[in-house]
Amino acid sequence: MAIKFDKQTFQLHTKNTTYQLQIDTHGRLMHLHYGKKIEDTDLSYMLDEGIDRSYNINPYEVAFESNYFLNALPQEYPTLGYGDFRTPAIILKNADGTTALDLHYKEHELVEGKYELPGLPATFGEAESLKITLEDTASGIEVDLLYAVFVDKDIITRATIVRNVGYETITLKKVQSLSMDFLYGEFDLIHFQGHHVAERLYERTPIGHHLQHIGSNRGISSHQHNPGFILANPGTIENFGDCYGFNLVYSGNFNANIEKSETDSTRVTLGLGDDTFSWKLEAGQSFTAPEAVLSYSANGFAQLSQNFHKMVKENLSRSKFTNTKRPVLINNWEATYFDFTGEKLVEIANAAKAIGVDMLVMDDGWFGNRFDDNRALGDWFVNEEKLGGSLKGLVEKINALDMKFGIWFEPEMVSEESKLFKAHPDWAYRIPGRNPSMGRKQLLLDLSKTEVQDYLYETISAVLDSTNIEYVKWDMNRAITHWFNGELPTDQLGELQHRYMLGLYRLFDKVTSRFPNILFEGCAGGGGRFDLGMLYYQPQIWTSDNTDAINRLKIQYGTSFFYPISSMGSHVSVTPNHQTGRSTPLDTRFHVAMSGTFGYELDLTKMSTKEKEDSSRYTALYKQYQQLIFSGDYYRLTSPFDTKQITAWQITAQDQSESLLTVVATDVIGNSPNIYLKLQGLDEQADYEINGKTYSGSALMNVGFKAMQQYTGNFPSAQFYIKRK
Ligand code: DGJ
Repeated sequence: MAIKFDKQTFQLHTKNTTYQLQIDTHGRLMHLHYGKKIEDTDLSYMLDEGIDRSYNINPYEVAFESNYFLNALPQEYPTLGYGDFRTPAIILKNADGTTALDLHYKEHELVEGKYELPGLPATFGEAESLKITLEDTASGIEVDLLYAVFVDKDIITRATIVRNVGYETITLKKVQSLSMDFLYGEFDLIHFQGHHVAERLYERTPIGHHLQHIGSNRGISSHQHNPGFILANPGTIENFGDCYGFNLVYSGNFNANIEKSETDSTRVTLGLGDDTFSWKLEAGQSFTAPEAVLSYSANGFAQLSQNFHKMVKENLSRSKFTNTKRPVLINNWEATYFDFTGEKLVEIANAAKAIGVDMLVMDDGWFGNRFDDNRALGDWFVNEEKLGGSLKGLVEKINALDMKFGIWFEPEMVSEESKLFKAHPDWAYRIPGRNPSMGRKQLLLDLSKTEVQDYLYETISAVLDSTNIEYVKWDMNRAITHWFNGELPTDQLGELQHRYMLGLYRLFDKVTSRFPNILFEGCAGGGGRFDLGMLYYQPQIWTSDNTDAINRLKIQYGTSFFYPISSMGSHVSVTPNHQTGRSTPLDTRFHVAMSGTFGYELDLTKMSTKEKEDSSRYTALYKQYQQLIFSGDYYRLTSPFDTKQITAWQITAQDQSESLLTVVATDVIGNSPNIYLKLQGLDEQADYEINGKTYSGSALMNVGFKAMQQYTGNFPSAQFYIKRK
């Protein structure tokens, strides 16, 4: 049994971790431990008890004892109004307008298998679940705290359901998926910030006595902050130290607060974004908050990342392609932008076929009057004039080359200049009496409306049914503003952001269920929605619109903390690069793009003979290594944020039989020192072959490997295939 209940104490055990909760003598649920595995031991001796903390507030029933202060106790699901002044997990407005809430244990249930969250993406698979119900009888509110334990993965998930069991309507103002109190300790916050074309850049800051907040109010999880973040002891590095990973299975507005209190405890909360959130809960109704995923590693970040990677691949991403090889693709976006014809695509496909590419993806510009980004979104009807014939005809030409065909959509959007907007102006988010804010000259469709979801489902399905389409890139290119839905009562407009996500998830569910043999790739102006919610439906996401290999080192490094390599879209593009103007060698562009779902994003017809030869070789090499790249354990050997100007990473097969080492020099100095690296994950007892030479695993891991010497030129790189003998 991974979950036990005895003497008012819940123990949740994974292979290497323990999570402990206790119902205290006053009936409140306390959080006693999350971290390294311990035997079933009552840890309540750790609590702040019997101390009269001056100037603190205590609940009425202990008013004369003055030694029980919620502000100094580690609570599992903290509320407002009873003397805990730290960040609450839940805020609601009672029927009488007050916000006080005092949750007490009511009952619990242990369940075999993984709980489900209808309508929301969530983890699945072999797990044990626990439901603890808390209640506030004065409010008429019950809160179910759901837990699932994935023993072998060292993963624990949480979710929250709020139920109105009273007679009057209440309004939820904030419902977080998790709250966790650490009684003591120094922590660094590691999170992943950025902007368009520079997503998920690593940032590490100490947690002081203040509130640190990350989140999104853009309607997407965002380029700016990712819902995945880490708390680590200050000395923690890749293979040493305590660290905790937190992430949310959600793709819209989110909110994470990290706060160190006056008694030096640290509270983490994570859940739906709450700036404008509200949810009307009538008697008998319930509200389900999205799932949060946690992991702890006593051995540094590499282990933590590997726990998340395995969870995504085995318990979250439900596509049949998640754990299979994927086609090497050529996407025409950076090759042509909007300026293409069917003939040009066939030319590109021919050139691609010659270097071993498996699939042509036709990006933006194939529909309606879409000759630039000012118009036509929503008109998902093939522009046969532009393609020089039907879509079916084009697909047949590509298939005749023995290549697959993929297509781009941006279903959530509508252009003002489109047939769809003219027919249904009320489907776009606009506030009466105000001009809408524009982003890329486009507006959002109100996905909270069932008729909009159904229209998109039918229109997308019609295109996908019309011919042999084997891949869809689902794009989304602006943040959401001007939330308004004239059919919702005004006191429910704060529900719209979450209703949008529920509508989008319903649409994804329908489309991906109807087309299980189509490979879906997520995209939001590159990596603006790279999160666990999207990965539930789509096994891969276009990591960034930035294809510069050197910028990609940082983007892919940051992304790798929570997301597997097999989920990162990564393409070789032209030099000088379109986003940065930088020139990099073809080898380096290949080496970087090979750590992902590899493809091309340039006009292959313009490649020199030498470039074509190199490309053939690299395409073949990627296909040879793809299984290893997708299923191996990922190790970040150095950081692109360090000053050493070397970025190195390694992917090692779980059975330690092979490994792939990649090194990129981001700067070159004259008469350079050699680059030595200690390798990871190999079998110390085995011998390995690298470029025809034999090395002992023990030496490679404990002494090192000379990866580069006297290197010259701009951004040189090297890659080594390591094979057990
Ligand atoms: C943004 C995407 O990230 C690009 O790859 C491309 O598909 C464009 N949108 C097309 O508009």
